[in-house]
Amino acid sequence: MESVLRFTKSIMVVAAAFAALTAQAAGNIEAGAAQAVTCAACHGQDGATGIDPSYPSLAGQGAKYLNRQLQMFQSGERDVPLMTAQLIGKSAQDLEDLAAYYASLPSKVGEAGGSDADIKTARMIYKGGLADRGVAACAACHGPGGLGNDQAGFPRIGGQSVEYTVAQLTAYREGIRDSDEAYAAMMRNVASGLTDGQIKVLADYIHGLSP
Ligand code: HEC
Ligand code: HEC
Repeated sequence: MESVLRFTKSIMVVAAAFAALTAQAAGNIEAGAAQAVTCAACHGQDGATGIDPSYPSLAGQGAKYLNRQLQMFQSGERDVPLMTAQLIGKSAQDLEDLAAYYASLPSKVGEAGGSDADIKTARMIYKGGLADRGVAACAACHGPGGLGNDQAGFPRIGGQSVEYTVAQLTAYREGIRDSDEAYAAMMRNVASGLTDGQIKVLADYIHGLSP
């Protein structure tokens, strides 16, 4: 009961924070496209096929989520020097434009490569969570098809690179991705109950997940 209350409370914090963000002007897709030439060197021309399998797909990701991550890379709150270096000298409007551009690109979905048993395990955790380990169902926030809910602050995860998802879930679990209290804390909670093996099968399942 207590954890349900905590969960509800954190959702309310998120909703309030995003209502505040919604008041901002929207990004300009064309202006974002012009800037994205340098980003394409790593994230691919289509925004979905990175030059390294561990680089995230950005295509079709929620604009608010993207904008928020870019702000946090720029400030160093999300501590990835490689990404911080890409954003030197960019204005808040530049970041909004980049976010709008990548959100407008069509997303790509992969195919799960795991065994039937692994996929079944992953689906069970994704849809139902692991009550005994305090892991909330991924679908509760990211949706049954991994589409997320940008208004509420939940990123799209369906179709994402396996390596990237493994790295992020591990980083949340180890407290390395601790960009902010309201959002990353939810994922640190969730990931703290996952084993390496569960992270691996989940990442594979999510790679093949589509709405
Ligand atoms: C040198 C390669 C490189 C370049 C150039 C680059 N990125 Fe990245 N980007 C990365 C890597 C690697 C990550 C994953 C970081 C991590 O480990 O969390 C990333 C992560 C991101 C994320 C977070 C995605 C998520 O799902 O949370 C966004 C957004 C992003 N990049 C946008 C951009 C934009 C916009 C540009 C151009 C201004 C850009 N990147 C240029 C390598 C690059
Ligand atoms: C209570 C809501 C909630 C639940 C449940 C939840 N997530 Fe998340 N997830 C979030 C939020 C919010 C973020 C963005 C956090 C941030 O900004 O760092 C996120 C981020 C992520 C990311 C990083 C996305 C990216 O592009 O970098 C992955 C991967 C992820 N979640 C996977 C999962 C999996 C797998 C589960 C189930 C085991 C799960 N989540 C359960 C809310 C949730």
